[in-house]
Amino acid sequence: MPNVLFATAELAPVARVGGLAEASAGLVKALRAKGTKVTVVLPDYGGIVLDGETSWPLDVPSWAGPARVRQGVAPGIGELVLIDRPGMARPHPYVEPGSGQGWPDNDHRFLGFSAAVAALVVETKPDVLHLNDWHTAATIGFLATPPPTVLTIHTLGYQGLCQKDWLQRIPFESWRYAWYESCNPLLGAIRSADKIIAVSPNYAKEILSESNGQGLHEELERRGSALVGIRNGIDTEIWDPTRDHCLPEPYDHSNFETGRDRAQVELLGRFGWKSSNNPIMGVVSRLVDQKGIDLLTGLGPYLAHLPARLVILGSGQSDLTQLVEDLVVSYPHHVAAVTDRYDEELAHQIFAGTDLFLMPSRFEPCGLAQMQAMAYGTPPVATSVGGLVDTIVDADDHRATGTGFLTKTLDLAGFVDAVHRAVRAYRVTSRRRGIQRRGMQIDWSWDEPAHEHVEIYRQLGQAESSKR
Ligand code: GLC
Repeated sequence: MPNVLFATAELAPVARVGGLAEASAGLVKALRAKGTKVTVVLPDYGGIVLDGETSWPLDVPSWAGPARVRQGVAPGIGELVLIDRPGMARPHPYVEPGSGQGWPDNDHRFLGFSAAVAALVVETKPDVLHLNDWHTAATIGFLATPPPTVLTIHTLGYQGLCQKDWLQRIPFESWRYAWYESCNPLLGAIRSADKIIAVSPNYAKEILSESNGQGLHEELERRGSALVGIRNGIDTEIWDPTRDHCLPEPYDHSNFETGRDRAQVELLGRFGWKSSNNPIMGVVSRLVDQKGIDLLTGLGPYLAHLPARLVILGSGQSDLTQLVEDLVVSYPHHVAAVTDRYDEELAHQIFAGTDLFLMPSRFEPCGLAQMQAMAYGTPPVATSVGGLVDTIVDADDHRATGTGFLTKTLDLAGFVDAVHRAVRAYRVTSRRRGIQRRGMQIDWSWDEPAHEHVEIYRQLGQAESSKR
């Protein structure tokens, strides 16, 4: 089994902003369960306690130091390596909590982190180096002879674009990081990695088009078969209605009505709402542009006519938080929202206790929430983008296999139409139950995706040893 060094800027439950944290944690856990030795490396943002800690200095360029490794066991993760560097420990990994703006020295923070990861690679000589998103993408440029390298693109939306001067600090093949008048960390890894994994097969195709390639479609096209798509999984130790302690009663795909009804009563009780025969729709999302919050709030005028009620759990950008709060003020009998925090228990209750799950993302490399919703028996209503297309089968187009509803067009009219179709299906009990049961029966775990990763590591390892 290959020895993998896995570098990421987020890891649940200790450093969590979005899906990157869940995906990193879920994949690492599944790889380890398959016997792969994975050293997972995360920036030391402060406040993370390790059991049995050992610590030693790393040999990094002077601008990036001093840097130290802290190695130990973290709760909920297992073996973990933290890299402690000046400027890394902050209350939020990327943004200043007051202003919501990115930390002005994020280039220094994450290029320095990448330089430190490279130093660790030199020290520990892994068989495979696995990088995730722009925060770790510069690592290859700090290695004279990099091991076989995998880059996972969780989103092309953030590339880590920074001043051209940074190229002078990248010692090896820095031209790969050059992008017009700037330095583009993600691009450098796209040009250098042996394998590029997009987080779903459809996203791997989408990013080759000018409209979805965020300026890099030609660069990606050039990599040919090095680019593949593997969908994410969900962590079924956390997301499993048969053993979820946040729910009043466990349930499974053969008997879910009572358990879900009880979860709904509890959910509605939180907002002082009473049960009715009309559907409750749920949202669990970061409030960022990508998530189509404008489409969601556009539903407001339709709610009374559908009729349906909407429960939203989400926090993030202040402008979008305001949009959601305005929606609650305009439609107090139809919309309830929690926007000031992520509430784990409420998230579980929404997945179990709503009748439809809304996900109108403008783009979505994979998306995890739609899989969590289906695992809990809540059919998703989503836009036809990215991994949503790979994971949801439209129940009007495919009567026998449908698991949710996908928009026909990427605009408010398309979204309203999909919601209408979903509510219509909800009203026909036998149809509704079939859609729910099919979604619950699919294996959404990391098992198969992790197997595909192991295959890639193995192929890269073989190619490397035949070079020697
Ligand atoms: C990013 C993407 C999301 C994906 C997650 C994990 O958050 O936006 O679609 O599921 O990364 O890969």
